[in-house]
Amino acid sequence: MKVVILKDAAAVAKYGANIFIKQISRKPDSVLGLATGSTPVALYKELIDAYKSGQVSFKKVSSFNLDEYLGLNPTHPQSYRYFMNQQLFDHIDIDKASTFVPPGDAEDPFTACALYETAIKQKGGIDIQLLGIGRNGHIGFNEPSSSLMSRTRIKTLTRATIDDNARFFGPDEYQPHLSITMGIGTILESKKVVLLATGENKAEAIKATVEGPLTAACPASALQLHEQVVLVIDEAAASLLSDVELYKHIEIENQKLLERLGRA
Ligand code: GLP
Repeated sequence: MKVVILKDAAAVAKYGANIFIKQISRKPDSVLGLATGSTPVALYKELIDAYKSGQVSFKKVSSFNLDEYLGLNPTHPQSYRYFMNQQLFDHIDIDKASTFVPPGDAEDPFTACALYETAIKQKGGIDIQLLGIGRNGHIGFNEPSSSLMSRTRIKTLTRATIDDNARFFGPDEYQPHLSITMGIGTILESKKVVLLATGENKAEAIKATVEGPLTAACPASALQLHEQVVLVIDEAAASLLSDVELYKHIEIENQKLLERLGRA
């Protein structure tokens, strides 16, 4: 696993955004896998700035989001569709018809899950998947005990996740306990994965992801099986890793090699 440790959240957002900008420059019709939560917001701001300064265009890009609350319609302010419109899509030149978020208001959510998988396949698969991580190691809404081969499906949220995400809901507001999420198997099929984590409260999950055993108890540990995954994390999220200096050394050597090859 490639682990890039940077000073702070701002540096993480910049580094992560550059990966996406390079991807879209190389392949203007890239299929992006996108994430919600507070961590990717700064990366989305970087992408918006890059679009406004003419560095990147999303005209031919399509996107699939990881997950959605089951029971919220797309206009609900806490829905992930609403979030994506607000934080990214409304500010760039992407064709909204090419942006997909699992339908939280589907009449038949089981069929909707299968259709989501089909839609990803029809677009040729995800070129690059952005991930955050939950404190319990969840990716998307794949909570601990999720099958490592799982596909898009309905998932019950753990108490920990419900509590962590309660901050986005008003005291009397309905907070769903169910979600539709891409599976771990779905995520592992994307060609590249970029996971962002910042802050001390993610340190344990990052340690388990990188240095722990491959286990459904930490869904993100399944990324150890992926050929092209990069974790972009700040010093605080890296603080429990056993050998921070080693990961930094590897990154410096990688950069030197890329520079020598003219690919930096
Ligand atoms: C939610 C999302 C995840 C996200 C996680 C962490 O549960 N379903 O995709 O990674 O929150 O969010 P944050 O970045 O706010 O810590």
